[in-house]
Parts: sequence; structure tokens; C-alpha cells
Amino acid sequence: MKDMSGLWDEEFRKGGIPCTKRESPSTTLRWFLANAKFVRPENPLARVIDLGCGTGRNAAFLADQGISVLGIDSSAKAIEMAEALVKLRETAGNPGFDVRRGRIDQRNEFLRDSSFDGAIDIFVSKHLVSPLERERYKLELDRILAPGALFFISLAAVDDGYYSQLLPGGALSGERVVTDPVSGISSKLFSREEVIEEFRPMEILAFWDKQGKSKMYGEEYDRHVLAFIFQK
Ligand SMILES: C[S@@+](CC[C@H](N)C(=O)[O-])C[C@H]1O[C@@H](n2cnc3c(N)ncnc32)[C@H](O)[C@@H]1O
Repeated sequence: MKDMSGLWDEEFRKGGIPCTKRESPSTTLRWFLANAKFVRPENPLARVIDLGCGTGRNAAFLADQGISVLGIDSSAKAIEMAEALVKLRETAGNPGFDVRRGRIDQRNEFLRDSSFDGAIDIFVSKHLVSPLERERYKLELDRILAPGALFFISLAAVDDGYYSQLLPGGALSGERVVTDPVSGISSKLFSREEVIEEFRPMEILAFWDKQGKSKMYGEEYDRHVLAFIFQK
């Protein structure tokens, strides 16, 4: 298994891509919460795992909604930043959240079977580019989610304006893995159908095809994000 956590540490130190410096939660996470209430009103989210939590910006937002959150991340620097955020929040009287260092593509003994009724994966598992890493991720996800749990994932579409230009043959080529020349970090790009196939037999409850302009490394691109709510 390739360990990219050193590259992520560097990325968090530099504040390169948006998630390393943004304080506000992901727009797609707001969409998920609004829809989670709609698709499962009788059973609101109580215990959620933030897979690849980064600085903790999304975990903090969930905690503000009264949800108990555990953020895990493989980058030591991200964990340090998330822990600092928890301290700041608690000092200000805002709800905190738990943080642990760990990989999402391995079995984590500190996570109990069926212990979460929700999981969020915001631009994280797209960085697991090998079939083995992806299989291990899905096994662990299935183990820790309770039956009926919601799984929210957002990721870059194969024709996303920033990532598709890195594909050797462009968006229409058969290639699906790109390496960011600035950070050295790899990503796997998906179409909507490929994501649905990837997480079968989970059932898809909602989908957002989000398109708009945003900046990467200071330059504006036409971004294309896919966001899904699945149910186990
Ligand atoms: C693009 S950032 C997104 C961070 C956060 N989800 C957000 O939206 O702000 C990707 C994150 O995934 C983490 N990550 C990458 N591979 C991982 C793995 N195998 N296990 C755990 N975390 C991982 C990185 O350290 C980084 O924090």
C-alpha cells in the first residue's frame, strides 16, 4: 500500500488545494444534511465518521448540528490542525469532536462494528487509486456502518476542468488516474455510473451534479463535482 501521508502533510503545511485552507464546510455537506433530513426524517443522524477529515472543517459543521463526530485522517499534520480546531472551539464554548489518526483503507481496531449511522467521504477515497486499496476501504466502511446508515461521498467527475486536463488523452480517454503535478498526489476520476457501480449494493438515495467555477492554485476552472447519498 502506497503511503501518501507525507505528501498530504506537505500539502497542509503549504495550504495548496482548497480543503487545506478553507474554514467553511463543503457546500456538498450542507446539501447532504438538508437531504438527510428529507430522506430519513424518522431517524436523524446521531454518530457520524468523517473519513479523511483534514483540518476538521466538515466535522465541526456536523458537531454544530448536534451530531457526535469522529474524524480520522492518515496525515499527522491534518490531525494536528483538526485537534487545534477542537481546542479552539471548546475554548469558545462550541461543540467539539473526536479525532484519530488512521487510514480509511485498513481495518482500524479502535472502530467498532456497526457503530456509525453515517459516514462522509468528501474528496477522500478518490485518492485511493489501486483496486486493493479501494476494496479494503469498502470492506472497512461496510464493517463500521450500521444497517440503514447513510454514506455521503463527493468527488471530482471525470470531465472536471482541473483534473481532466491532466489525463493524457483528455476527458474521453480510457485513463482514469491522474497525478497532480503540483502536489504529486494521485486521484481516480469517476463518472456517475461508475460511482454507483463502485458502492453497490448500497442503494442510491440522492445525487447532485454540481457544476460551477472555482479556483485551484489561484486559477479559475470549470469544476464538476459528483455528490451522492447512499444507504447501506
Ligand atoms: C482533499 S483532502 C479533503 C479533506 C476533507 N475531507 C475536507 O473536505 O476538507 C483529502 C484528505 O484525505 C486524507 N487521506 C488521503 N488518503 C487517506 C487514507 N488512505 N486514509 C485516511 N485519510 C486519507 C488526506 O490526508 C486529506 O486530509
